[in-house]
Order: sequence, then structure tokens, then C-alpha cells
Amino acid sequence: MPIPPLLDSTDERPIELTMGRGQVELLPGIMTPTTGFNGPNLGPTVRVRDGQNIPITYRNTLSEAVAIHGHGLHVPGELDGGPQRAIEPDSSWSFELPIRQQASTSWYHPHTHHKTGPQTFKGLAGMIIIDDENSDALPLPKTYGVDDIPVIIQDRKFDDQGRLDYSIEDVEDGMLGDTITANGIANATHRVPAGLVRLRLLNGANARYFRFHFSDNREFLKIATDGGFLEEPVPIRELVMSPGERNEVVVDFSDGNPAMLVSGPRAQAVNDERRRDEGERDRRRNREPGGLGDMFEVLQFTVDPGFPAIRESLPRQLNSINRPTAQRNWPVRRFDLFMRDNRRRGVLGAFQNNIEMSMGINRQSMDMRVINEQVRLGERERWIINSFDGSHPFHVHGCSFLVVSQNERPVAAEDAGWKDTVRVDDSAELIVRFDHKATDEFPYMYHCHILEHEDRGMMGQFTVS
Ligand code: C2O
Ligand code: CU
Ligand code: CU
Repeated sequence: MPIPPLLDSTDERPIELTMGRGQVELLPGIMTPTTGFNGPNLGPTVRVRDGQNIPITYRNTLSEAVAIHGHGLHVPGELDGGPQRAIEPDSSWSFELPIRQQASTSWYHPHTHHKTGPQTFKGLAGMIIIDDENSDALPLPKTYGVDDIPVIIQDRKFDDQGRLDYSIEDVEDGMLGDTITANGIANATHRVPAGLVRLRLLNGANARYFRFHFSDNREFLKIATDGGFLEEPVPIRELVMSPGERNEVVVDFSDGNPAMLVSGPRAQAVNDERRRDEGERDRRRNREPGGLGDMFEVLQFTVDPGFPAIRESLPRQLNSINRPTAQRNWPVRRFDLFMRDNRRRGVLGAFQNNIEMSMGINRQSMDMRVINEQVRLGERERWIINSFDGSHPFHVHGCSFLVVSQNERPVAAEDAGWKDTVRVDDSAELIVRFDHKATDEFPYMYHCHILEHEDRGMMGQFTVS
């Protein structure tokens, strides 16, 4: 598995990310045309620190406009990189990026109006690591690429000549590929030290959900969600991740045994889920979301006893999170996610095939001319998300939020940290607060992170003032 090169700007040195075309061996022995940042596929890992201001330039050498968004960053709307910030071919966007948030793993990817799905699928994505004093002090594995390993997991589909094939069989499912890649390659293997290994997992797939576990069913520890460390490590044996989510986990390889990171059904879990679903309110679709039922080998780990290894146990406390209880006088906003099959209603006619479905939030499809919500700076709100048609990862720009309840249950310990993307099978209640402004000209977005749903309108815009 390739480790993306590190663009270390923890000393505030300027960062340049140039989008361009390339070719890469995604499948063994076959060259596939791709796009990437500073290279043929994906992009470097950008490393920054809380409190800094990083001069950054995005340069576009492609033949179409691309907007690049920093997913998970708490920056004002004008620096957020939404669709209003499309960078035209042969031009660039330079600005100073203020980092004002705790240690966490974020990422950057396209956010171009109607084109986020295909542009991300072609290879435009990279990781962002934020450090702070807490992450410096914690005794965790932190040697990049050795025991602190970025893992961008995606799925891809190829035509018979090995070219990437962005054809969608079912818009409700979104773009599902049959080949899983880790940091851009299929059948990835990686050598790790015989000790604790930290994985920064990013579900960078367009639409696929993963249920990660290890082939030997070993226990591992979840230490961070999208926006920062959990208060304490949570032992788990499996981890469901919807598109856009990041989780940091620590796996103990001190037994020296190899292990395969796999995704797919674990009998127990699937049965539990079925049982839970039985008798629940009438749902249009009862199948597993986003191909979660498919079984994949993701990444084979082997242990190299020659690598320097960390063996001590993890600290009990990683973070302190102030979890307010929701107050009655907080503003409440509701977001109802919908998908409607127009073919059934006979309105398909003249439209192209991507209008087979209409998708949106609160009865509206994304319209760049419409500001859907206006939020007040620095005030807590309760956001209630409902899905009536299938499962959707709901993402909010410009903040990290806390999940109060998810799918009619109180939030699980392993998700009780800062997040910006939450899997909504039925419903979720969030506590949000925005500490930066977003104007009418450069509003923030909230949307489904299944990129084919986002591109088809399951998105809205809001200002913060
Ligand atoms: Cu990762 Cu609005 O997106
Ligand atoms: Cu985002
Ligand atoms: Cu969706």
C-alpha cells in the first residue's frame, strides 16, 4: 500500500496542491488514467497545527472547473471551498487557511456543482492531519507511515480495458464499485511493527458503506471520530463507516500474527440488525445500505519484527468533551431527506437519466441561488435529521457536532465524540454550533455524503452570521 507523501506545514510553510492527469497501476499490470494532486492519483497528506495560518494554493491544470473543499475544517464560508469557489481550468485559488480546531483527521476533495461524484471517483482526494498540544503529549503511535498510517478506502469499477468506469446502475445506491482500493491500489498489503499501530481510516468511497473487522476477529480500540479524540479508547471488533467519515483506531500487532482488514457481514451483527428492523416502521427499502452486505478483503497486514514498536498500553483519557444537554430554548431545525423515483410518477420523459430520481432535503433540491437556512453565530442548536428512504450519511460544513441519538437509540460510546458526518438510517439528533461566519456569497452546505445523492440535489445551503 502506498503511503501518500507528507506535505508538512506544521511550520506554516506554503502548501501547493496542483490537480492534474496521470496514469496509475490500480489493478496489477494495467495502467488506468486518473487524476490527482501533485501526482497521478489521490494527493499528499497535508499536516498542520491548531493555531496556525497556512498559505495554500490550489492549482487546476485539468480541462474542467473544480471546487476543492476541506471536509472537517472549521473555516469561514469564504475559505470552505464549496461550489461557489469553482477553480477554472488553468487557474488557481490562493488563500491563508486558519487552523482553529483540535487534533483530528480531515480530508480534501472536490465539491463542484453536479460533478463531485465523478471528479472524486477519478482520484481527487487527500488527507489532512491536524496536530495540537494534546496530540503531541498523548503517548500514541505517531510516526507517519510507520505506526501512524493513513488509509483511504474507496471502491472502484473498471471497464474491460482497465479504465475507470463511472457508470451508475442504481442512483439510489450511488456509484458502487467491485474493487476495493486502499490509498489507491487494489489487493493492498502493508508491513507494520510488532506493537501498537494507529490507523487513520477514511471512507473516501462515493457511496459505499463499510463494516470493517479483522479476519481473526481481533479486538481493537477506537480512539477518534471525525473531529477529534474520544474521551477514552473504546474497544470494538467491528466498525461501520459511511462515506465521508473518518475514524482512528489502534490495533495491537505485538503477537506478530498477520491479519487482514476485511469489510462485510459478520453473521451476528447482520442478524441483530435484521431483528432490529423487524416490526419497525414501514420502510420503502429493507436491504443493507450502500452494498454493506458485500464481502471484501481490504488490506493485508504483515508484521515486521525489525520495525521499532510501541508496546505500552494506551492512556485512559484522550480528550475531554463538554457534552451539554439539549435545552428547550435552543432553536430546532429539521432536515427531512428524500428520494423520489420519477419513473414511477411518469415524469421522466425528456430528462437525461440522472433525473430519474429527484433528491433533496425538506422538499427542495439544491439550488445554488437559494439560501435554505440562516444560522446565528456561536449559538447552540438542535438539528433533527430524518430519512424516509434508505440510509444517508448526513454531513455539515464548518463545524464539528455531537450526536445525541442515532436511529432511535442514544449515541453509542464509540460515536460520542466530535463528528461532522453521521449515518442516518432513520433519524439522528445533533447538537451543532458554528463559530465562523458564512455569507450569502459563500454559504456552507449540509448534504448527504453519498456523492451521487449530493450531485442530484440532496444538499442545502446556509449562512452563519
Ligand atoms: Cu466531504 Cu460537503 O463534503
Ligand atoms: Cu465538508
Ligand atoms: Cu443519500
